[in-house]
Amino acid sequence: MTPTAIPEQMTAVVLDAYDGADALRVVHLPVPRPGPNELLVKVAASPINPSDLMFLQGRYGFTKPTPVVPGFEGSGTVVAVGSRTGLMGRYLAGKRVACVTQQTGDGLWAEYTTTTVNYALPLDDAVSMEQGAMSVVNPLTAVALIDLAKKAGHKTVINTAAASALGLMIHRLGQQEGVEVVGIVRRPEQVVDLKQQGVTHVLNSSHPDFNQQLRDLCHQQNIHLAFDAVAGDLPQQLCAAMPIHSRVTVYGNLSQQPVQVNTTSLIFEDKLVDGFWLAPWVNEKNLLQNFMIWRRAQKLMLSALKTEIRGRYPLSQAQQAVRDYESQMTGGKVLLDPAL
Ligand SMILES: NC(=O)c1ccc[n+]([C@@H]2O[C@H](COP(=O)([O-])OP(=O)(O)OC[C@H]3O[C@@H](n4cnc5c(N)ncnc54)[C@H](OP(=O)(O)O)[C@@H]3O)[C@@H](O)[C@H]2O)c1
Repeated sequence: MTPTAIPEQMTAVVLDAYDGADALRVVHLPVPRPGPNELLVKVAASPINPSDLMFLQGRYGFTKPTPVVPGFEGSGTVVAVGSRTGLMGRYLAGKRVACVTQQTGDGLWAEYTTTTVNYALPLDDAVSMEQGAMSVVNPLTAVALIDLAKKAGHKTVINTAAASALGLMIHRLGQQEGVEVVGIVRRPEQVVDLKQQGVTHVLNSSHPDFNQQLRDLCHQQNIHLAFDAVAGDLPQQLCAAMPIHSRVTVYGNLSQQPVQVNTTSLIFEDKLVDGFWLAPWVNEKNLLQNFMIWRRAQKLMLSALKTEIRGRYPLSQAQQAVRDYESQMTGGKVLLDPAL
C-alpha cells in the first residue's frame, strides 16, 4: 500500500441525542486510529437509508452512547491497517471497499471511519464508489429475501413499499431467479412507474378497493408469502387477503406503527407473521458462503442490484440531506460525499 498522509483532524457529522435530524451537528474530530483487527477507511460516499432514519430517532435495533457518528454503510479506500488483521488486512490495504458499521463505535458520516476486517468487502473495479456505498444493506437483503422465497418453493410473492430501492432490487432479482414479485405501493404514480419497469401486478394500498383487489390477486395467483416493509395495518391486510397457511415476513417499519394482526388470522387460519433482519442472516453463514454471496452481488451491482441516486450532499449539509431524503424517498438515494 502506498502510504497516504492521514491528517490529525477530520470533518464528521455527530448525533447528539436520539431526536432525528435536528440533533445532527457538523464537528471536527481526531481521525480514529485502527485498533486490533481494524482498518481505517477514507470514506468516499455514504447513503441515507431508512435504517439511518430509525437510528437517528432511537428506533433501530440498538442505540449507541451519544454523541456518535451515524451512517450504517458506505464505501472508501483502506488507508491504514491495525494490528492482528492477518492475511485479510494485508489483502485489503489500499483497496476500494464497501463497509458497514459495527454495533459499537462511530459510523460512516465522516471523512474517515474504522471498521473490523470482516466488515470491509472489496469492490470490483467495475463498481463505482457511489454504487459501492449502497452495495451491502439493500442488495444482500434482496438476495436473502428471494433466497427465502425460493427455498420455501414460492413461485409468486408480494412485496410492499415496492417502489423503494430495495423493492426494485427484489423485483429484478426475482425475475432472474424465477420468482414473480407482486408490488404494493401507496401512490398511483408509483403504480405507473413500476408497471413501466416491468412489474406485472402492482396494487395501490390507498385505493378504496385495495383489500378486495389484494384478496382476488392472492387467490388467483395462489400467493402464500408476503414481504412487508411498512408494518402497522398492512400485515393484517396481507394475512386477511392470502389463503390459509400463509406467511408475512416483516422487514421494515416505514409506517412507524406496531404490527397489528388479529387472532382469527393467527389461530384459525394458520397465518404466520415473523421478522427478517439482515445482520443475523449474514452472521449465520460461514466465511466462504458470505464470500460467494458477495461475489455474486458484485456482479449484479450494475443491473439487478443497482441503486438510483437522486442527490449528493457534503457532510456540512447533513441535516438538509436527511430532510431532502425524508421528503421524497422514492426515486433514488441521497448520498453524503465527504469530498464535496
Ligand atoms: N430488515 C432488514 O435487514 C432490512 C434491510 C434493508 C432494508 N430494509 C427496509 O427496507 C425498506 C426499504 O428500504 P429502501 O432503502 O429501499 O427505501 P427507499 O429506497 O428509501 O424507499 C422507501 C420507500 O418507502 C415508501 N414509504 C415510506 N413511508 C411509507 C409508509 N408509511 N407506507 C408505505 N410506504 C412508505 C416510500 O414511498 P413514498 O415516496 O410514497 O414515501 C419509498 O418508496 C425499509 O423499510 C428498510 O428499513 C430492511
